[in-house]
Amino acid sequence: MTVYFDYAGSQNTEQTLKLAVERAKKGDIKSIVVASSTGETAKKLLELLKKEGLNLNVVVVTYHQGFYGDDIKSMDDKTREELEKMGAKVFMGTHALSGVERGISRKLGGYGPVEVIAETLRTFGHGVKVCYEIAVMAADAGLVSVKEDIIAIGGRSRGADTAMVIRPANMNTFFNIEAKEIICMPRNKKKMGEL
Ligand SMILES: Cc1cc2nc3c(=O)[nH]c(=O)nc-3n(C[C@H](O)[C@H](O)[C@H](O)COP(=O)(O)O)c2cc1C
Repeated sequence: MTVYFDYAGSQNTEQTLKLAVERAKKGDIKSIVVASSTGETAKKLLELLKKEGLNLNVVVVTYHQGFYGDDIKSMDDKTREELEKMGAKVFMGTHALSGVERGISRKLGGYGPVEVIAETLRTFGHGVKVCYEIAVMAADAGLVSVKEDIIAIGGRSRGADTAMVIRPANMNTFFNIEAKEIICMPRNKKKMGEL
């Protein structure tokens, strides 16, 4: 059963993580991939998994260095170490659904097919687009297999509001990706109060 939140945004984080962990308890999923810019959402997930006694392959995908400006990391090294001590694998790298295309469109204008895919997926919600993206990034980093379904968790700027069961794909076989289940997502794709 899919749970629908009224609006996108970080107010749904706790509930999203709870629903994702409940789904994981069925026992058929070995990996959870979570988007976490600062590490905050990832830490909440790891604490919840510990509390529930679930031992899964947890992959934390964070923004690439430079997302917020030259050499800036969205997650500091201390937080990364802390998450790794808690058992997670942290991945920071090129975003699968923007990549060099973003550099081209920012410099020259226009758009490319990858950004069109990203924008189309955002019509289901930013969180859905993020789940697709981090599933590919984790697979390309060798941290999950494309032969097994995973749970992916994403959100709208901060926190989490979407969880899905996804069969990941690599970037060079992108269209093999399969959205298997929507565990939860926001009905309105904007945050409360956003026009
Ligand atoms: C690779 C990557 C791509 C992301 N893309 C988007 C996006 O297109 N739209 C959006 O609203 N949030 C995006 N996010 C934010 C995440 O969905 C999530 O809300 C955030 O990373 C949680 O960070 P926190 O734990 O610091 O709150 C992205 C995050 C990552 C790591």
